[in-house]
Amino acid sequence: MAGLIPRQFIDDLLARADIVELVESRVPLKKAGKNYQACCPFHTEKSPSFTVSQDKQFYHCFGCGEHGNAISFLMEFDRLDFPDAVDELASHYNMEVPKEQNNQSPAQQRQQQIAYQQKQDDYELMGQISQFYQQQLKVAEDKSTAVDYLKGRGLSGEIVKRFGIGYISDVWDGMMKVFGRNPQMNQQLVDLGMAIQGDKNRPYDRFRGRIQFPIRDKRGRVIGFGGRVLSDGTPKYLNSPETRIYHKGQELYGLYEAKQANKKLTRLVVVEGYMDVVALAQHGVDYAVASLGTATTPEQLQTLFRTVREVICCYDGDRAGRDAAWRAMDNALPLIQDGFSLRFVFLPDGEDPDSLIRKQGQQAFEAILDNAKPLSEFLFEHLTQQVDIKSLEGKAGLIELFQPYLNKLPASVLKDGILTSLANRFVGGSEKQLAELHKRHASPAQKQSAKQKNKVTPVRLAIALLLEYPHIVQVLPDDMVLQELDMPGVSLLNQLVTLCKSNLQVNSAQLLEHFRDTEQGKQLAKLMCWQHHVEADAAENVFLDSIEKLLNNFVEQRTEFLLQQERNVGLNKTEKLELHALLCS
Ligand code: UTP
Ligand code: MN
Repeated sequence: MAGLIPRQFIDDLLARADIVELVESRVPLKKAGKNYQACCPFHTEKSPSFTVSQDKQFYHCFGCGEHGNAISFLMEFDRLDFPDAVDELASHYNMEVPKEQNNQSPAQQRQQQIAYQQKQDDYELMGQISQFYQQQLKVAEDKSTAVDYLKGRGLSGEIVKRFGIGYISDVWDGMMKVFGRNPQMNQQLVDLGMAIQGDKNRPYDRFRGRIQFPIRDKRGRVIGFGGRVLSDGTPKYLNSPETRIYHKGQELYGLYEAKQANKKLTRLVVVEGYMDVVALAQHGVDYAVASLGTATTPEQLQTLFRTVREVICCYDGDRAGRDAAWRAMDNALPLIQDGFSLRFVFLPDGEDPDSLIRKQGQQAFEAILDNAKPLSEFLFEHLTQQVDIKSLEGKAGLIELFQPYLNKLPASVLKDGILTSLANRFVGGSEKQLAELHKRHASPAQKQSAKQKNKVTPVRLAIALLLEYPHIVQVLPDDMVLQELDMPGVSLLNQLVTLCKSNLQVNSAQLLEHFRDTEQGKQLAKLMCWQHHVEADAAENVFLDSIEKLLNNFVEQRTEFLLQQERNVGLNKTEKLELHALLCS
């Protein structure tokens, strides 16, 4: 298992990173006073409310509330998970991400290091091979067969380029004679599934006489290929096997290209084939992906719902298509929270997305997508087919059938809706059972959504100022203790004080990073975006003021406590002395 990324490295990385430069490379920024501004890349707006601060190394949108540091930006904008975002940022600064290996020997760590290097080499090599295949469309002796094939399928040069589609002639060593330069590379090519080790010494090309579709990971690195024969040979498609860099159940063909084409991706369509994805893009539906096998895996669904809130699965209308849809739905249920939707399209007999969009065009196809069948409907249809809903037993059985699926759904409006229609449509089945069902799945009491406004309290102000100007920690005396203060937020303030003191150069982004994915992190982010109207040159004084107020509170609290204690159970000698000191201070 890969180790954790050491905290120190993340700190160093954030010290090196420049969020303005990073954001600028993806969203054009305008200088506005001390900060930079743009129209928010995370929601649609006409006037810019997205602000990037160089000092804080932090971005914040006053319109939609998105905020974070350089790592968060990459996670949100490039839709990467945390380790990938760190990796991406690090590679930008030529830093190599070390992995924390608590219980590993130096030898094991060395092994890990070699494996990491190996993978970097692998990505590099796969990228070069993909370039080579693309070039073959221009230089291969029989290139016209390939080009004519692609044209015949309605693809433009632009789309072929966007998807990096290439070609390899039907010879044994078209690729190997370029890349199999020595035994070591031969081995690497076999490991990567690009070559096959036969009985003879020299491995030969796996892909021969095929149109080559590169499969890219979510960062755009080529990790495998799908190759289609030009005529009716078999197999129609040949795919890369699982390798150390390609795990097909985790990847989605076309996801990288969809993200590249849409900075504000809101929905994704899952189709079956490489050609479907490419043909849809050719006709303007540039948000389709293909699961690289028959079933859509839980990992793929997770990736989908991390990327967008609306997913439409598009399958054949036949038995196999319906089964595939059902399995996808089953895997997706735990992910369908409020605000997320999964819907289904079943295509007419003999059609696939490619053939359909070529015949009917973008508008008609998108109309089909807009009318996709909601999950609940699919669920009802599928389950009611399995029982005779006219009979009492059938109705009762139906409720039993629903049970496992309801169990997988998180509490949501959708779930409530399913329960209600189950009740409405099939009352009489067994009222008791329904009541029971409702009770078991009742959604939790209305979430307390009363959003507390940021009231100015000394703790809040102290935290906000320290976050924004970490160096002001230096005004605090070294022997000052706050931790005994029994007041919300004080322990967080204390942690911040300790962090700031241990590194006087620390910036806001680094501080926040310590609290990623924690409740405290959320609090801090809110305070970071809070407009307290304290100017930089007044920060130190206001901060000290707040701390003083806190300490006064502490004195009051402690005095009150001791006085009560005295009345109730009496005080020991030290406590008496303390009370005396407090009352006289
Ligand atoms: P289809 O047989 O539906 O082909 O396979 P298609 O996508 O319509 O392809 P064209 O239009 O004839 O070119 C759908 C998907 O199933 C996988 C591939 O991923 C393909 O895109 N498949 C199919 C294979 O892996 N091997 C095969 O031999 C056939
Ligand atoms: Mn097809």
